[in-house]
Amino acid sequence: MQIKNICCIGAGYVGGPTMAVIALKCPDIKVTVVDLNAARIAAWNGPLENLPIYEPGLAEVVEKARGRNLFFSTEVDKAIDEAEMIFMAVNTPTKTEGEGAGMAADLRYVEACAKNIASVSKTDKIVIEKSTLPVRTAEKIKEILDSEGSGVHFEILSNPEFLAEGTAIQDLFKSDRVLIGGDETKSGQKAVQALVDIYANWIPKEKILTTNVWSSELAKLASNAMLAQRISSINSLSALCEKTGADIEELSKAIGMDHRIGSKFLKASVGFGGSCFQKDVLNLVYLCRHYGLEEVADYWHQVIKINDYQKDRFAQKIIDHFGGDLTGKKIAILGWAFKANTNDSRESPAIYVAEKLFKAGAFLEIYDPMVSKESIFRDIDFYWEASGTEDLKSRISVLYPVNELDLSNDATAILTECEAFKSLDFSNTIVFDGRGILSSSIYSIGKG
Ligand code: NAD
Ligand code: UGA
Repeated sequence: MQIKNICCIGAGYVGGPTMAVIALKCPDIKVTVVDLNAARIAAWNGPLENLPIYEPGLAEVVEKARGRNLFFSTEVDKAIDEAEMIFMAVNTPTKTEGEGAGMAADLRYVEACAKNIASVSKTDKIVIEKSTLPVRTAEKIKEILDSEGSGVHFEILSNPEFLAEGTAIQDLFKSDRVLIGGDETKSGQKAVQALVDIYANWIPKEKILTTNVWSSELAKLASNAMLAQRISSINSLSALCEKTGADIEELSKAIGMDHRIGSKFLKASVGFGGSCFQKDVLNLVYLCRHYGLEEVADYWHQVIKINDYQKDRFAQKIIDHFGGDLTGKKIAILGWAFKANTNDSRESPAIYVAEKLFKAGAFLEIYDPMVSKESIFRDIDFYWEASGTEDLKSRISVLYPVNELDLSNDATAILTECEAFKSLDFSNTIVFDGRGILSSSIYSIGKG
């Protein structure tokens, strides 16, 4: 089956870059990325320097394919109607209300997509789960498609995305693996092959792994959980290093040199952030409880608890240094995004650390070369409990660019491993290093 027309619903961090790369590598396929968010689509269609997502190499890919076979549009129904293959790359945040609130994935956007596809489709379609979803979601999607569709055939595949922000284009060009889950029926396998043929345009065949749908759905959650677990493991040991005089970097190196363990994702930090690790691990915990696997659920929940402990521990170190009260203290926060080289601050540890310091009385000066003042205040409004109860703006300032930074203050907290921070003048401040990037700090995660 030769695919000529692809539609992707969701023009976010995943939908935008993945479809741009498919369009680049498959010039004979028309790829249309649609979204209900008109401002986001306008930005995808606008100047290359203002694309809605910052990723090294993305602008070059978009420049080559946009207008040739890559299109961004708000005409969702039209794109669904024209496509033989539809990717669903919409957001799946943690539920905030109802059954499973605070743990389970909110599937309302995925369900809305399925309803939309069902109501518009007049021809058979291959529908692909690109979003990260709980295992057995394909069952629900099929139910919606079959009960609300007009008799056309829908084949559902799972094709989770493994890109990391900041290296998305590199990850998509040279994926460790592409995972495709499909039904073992004849039509299921035909659909799997159609998707394999697309990726085979640039991914070596041995890296394209085909499985059943449930394995594919669960492998995505499990991969994120294993990565997050490594970070929580090393972070838990960082606390023990501080008590015993062992050094976390030396420990990490010694552990990682065992080729069976490997050195990646063993960097101690102030905790992991980002839109996915926490939500996906919580979702896994919820699923385990749903299936009555309490011990398994508790095991994975501990990964989140250690992450919360680590963020809290770091902020508390600063508060303790000043005798438990930060009233009137001026503290710089370097790094607001959840890691260096991205403008994404979803679930960033900085948000939590800053909140705790602010509530202990501090004046905060926040700086991140990639995150705008508006985004920082939006995060504060969104994440901080009771954010509106104090006059935030009188005790928080956001600085930009780096040369406005005057580090003659009471303390400086480093929260991302941004290169620009390494060359700043820290001689008039006390540095608390949450990323272990500076040798001159008085407190560095995992060092006694
Ligand atoms: P995002 O919030 O950046 O983008 C999702 C987009 O979907 C939004 O622009 C939203 O407007 C749009 N949307 C929602 N419902 C819609 C509908 N019914 N019709 C049209 N558009 C709709 O999310 P993201 O970061 O791209 O993540 C998407 C999925 O991919 C999530 O399940 C996430 O877990 C997974 N994932 C994300 C990453 C990452 O690095 N961000 C990596 C791998 C997997
Ligand atoms: C992560 C995964 O790496 C991707 O494979 C996955 O596709 C994605 O989640 C997703 O599903 O959304 P991402 O969140 O973009 O990607 O970034 P990572 O590089 O994995 O970093 C996550 C967090 O862990 C960051 O806060 C980072 O600073 C922290 N981290 C990472 C550490 O604290 N120590 C490490 O050794 C590595």
